[in-house]
Amino acid sequence: MMRTHTCGELRASDAGAQAVVCGWVETVRDHGGVLFVDVRDHTGMVQVVAHPEEAPDAFAVAEKARAEYVLRVHGEVRPRPDGTVNPDLPTGEVEIGVAGIEILARSEPLPFQLDESVVTDEGLRLRYRPLDLRRPRLQHTLRLRARVTAAARAALEAEGFVEVETPTLIRSTPEGARDFVVPSRLSPGEWYALPQSPQLYKQLLMVAGVDRYFQFARCWRDEDLRADRQPEFTQLDLEASFAEEEDVLTWVEAAVAAAFAAAGRGWEIELPLPRMAWQEAIDAYGSDKPDLRAGPAIVDISRVFAATEFNAFASTLEAGGAVRAWRLPRGGDRTRSQLDALVERAQELGAKGLVWMVVEEDGSLRSPVVKFLTEAEQDGIKTALEAEPGDLVLLAADLARLASHVLGQLRVELAAPRGHGADSGVAALWVVDFPLFEEGGDGGPAPAHHPFTHPNVEDLDRLESDPLSVRSRSYDLVANGLELGSGSVRIHTADVQERVFRILGLSEEDIHSRFGFLLDAFRYGVPPHAGFAVGWDRLVMILADEASIREVIAFPKTQTGADPLSGAPAALDAGQLGEVGVMLTPETTVRLTELEERRGRPHG
Ligand code: AMO
Ligand code: AMP
Repeated sequence: MMRTHTCGELRASDAGAQAVVCGWVETVRDHGGVLFVDVRDHTGMVQVVAHPEEAPDAFAVAEKARAEYVLRVHGEVRPRPDGTVNPDLPTGEVEIGVAGIEILARSEPLPFQLDESVVTDEGLRLRYRPLDLRRPRLQHTLRLRARVTAAARAALEAEGFVEVETPTLIRSTPEGARDFVVPSRLSPGEWYALPQSPQLYKQLLMVAGVDRYFQFARCWRDEDLRADRQPEFTQLDLEASFAEEEDVLTWVEAAVAAAFAAAGRGWEIELPLPRMAWQEAIDAYGSDKPDLRAGPAIVDISRVFAATEFNAFASTLEAGGAVRAWRLPRGGDRTRSQLDALVERAQELGAKGLVWMVVEEDGSLRSPVVKFLTEAEQDGIKTALEAEPGDLVLLAADLARLASHVLGQLRVELAAPRGHGADSGVAALWVVDFPLFEEGGDGGPAPAHHPFTHPNVEDLDRLESDPLSVRSRSYDLVANGLELGSGSVRIHTADVQERVFRILGLSEEDIHSRFGFLLDAFRYGVPPHAGFAVGWDRLVMILADEASIREVIAFPKTQTGADPLSGAPAALDAGQLGEVGVMLTPETTVRLTELEERRGRPHG
């Protein structure tokens, strides 16, 4: 047996036991000729004491130990002498009196300190990720991730969901992002795509009679990266037959609640989660992923200014716009330059302007524009916003949606808590009644979710005449201002699907070449079905109280999609390119040559 105990498990009750532990050297301290070695594994740390007289051979080995050496230590567990107990360490009541030590592996000096209080450049951390992962915080996160994944899997299995794997070398699936593509050696000139999600395959599994499918599915999207976006990420993906909105929402809530419970942080979400119509989210929060933690909602106060003489507002209202306002409780203590900076920020976000008002102790309003407003208008603002002395009020007059967008953005920037932690809680909700289409780049309708989403049946007769007004049967899960997941009831009849494709401007040929295999399968008896996908990295990020999904992925990529650890992406040699029938453009060759020179070594 390599070891009898892990480093973190020894307690006062183990005193007298013989123990063998293995781990990495955290520190070696010399106290008057006696060596104290802290040995660490993923469970914690234990103090090992090597005495020159008690165990001269072991002492001689301990003298050679350096930070991050791998040791195997055996000896007797004994209580620490009075006054040396460390109450901050779970093993702090005991130490191991060394009888023998083996050095299992030596370590060179590390490229950075593992001490978590030292800030380390992320590029360096990712370059040496195995060392970075030794840190307790990341160890904890990896294990938390495994725990919540197992819990969600069990919750879905309890509902009869079956885990089925779907292929990752596929024909391009339309999810709205760019595909990562893989050239084929056996069919030179032809390419696979990596799935942006298992969307079509899970619908085919419904045709197959699987009934309830789920999968922790790896997805790939070639898009601009952010703190909550990676080029490859994981979804908890599910689909069910003979199911509608309510079924899906209930199952997803159960899986997410199981994940929360398994995280063991004591954070609760109350089920069923509240629901908000998409239109309300856009109006009252300026976003389809409202952060309910960031203070009050935005209010439309256009009516207050129906007869206003304040030009900026009057002209906007005349032109069909709106005046909207948001209140930051106790936000009135900002300096003039801070307030001016808010106006600039609003303009940066596309607003024509921004009016700020501070509610004074006597209830009056202080603002550069207050002289243009009647008493009734001032009272109207205060009443509509329920403003209290000390509050800051921000007003924007613009196209209604733009006014809400700008105020919503300021709301998040000024009032959203930083972490997801115990202090701020987790505010989760469903956003429902999304539109089926949004305006695409070319001005025509584009799918707001994806083209397989069922239109709201009440709106079906407007599908062709007024597509942008048609609501969909889709729903998003939102928490702390993040989109955690999306799903919908799917179209399962050929005629509705064809109408949607036609509105999207797809030709018969496009439809046939891109979705032919789905539509073919749909000819042979397709059950009504609905599904969902939870962005699993994002959920774990919240449960781990991290600000970036890179912190909850063992081997993530940088913001530019690079992996500093392996050096991916990397050039291929001419032989490999030739095998798949790929030739580089002259520009690409120049780029690679320059890259080589900069790195001072040949590529390949
Ligand atoms: P959607 O495209 O909304 O829906 O994706 C579902 C969820 O996946 C997460 N997500 C990401 N996470 C990390 N990095 C990314 N680049 C990234 N992109 C998306 C988000 C998102 O809400 N097939 C449909 C689901 C369905 O209709 O069943 C789909 O993929 O949390
Ligand atoms: P002006 O009449 O353009 O000098 O603007 C007077 C004040 O109203 C300034 O503080 C502007 O920032 C603000 N303002 C102008 N247009 C708007 C608008 N559309 N919404 C909110 N504030 C505005």
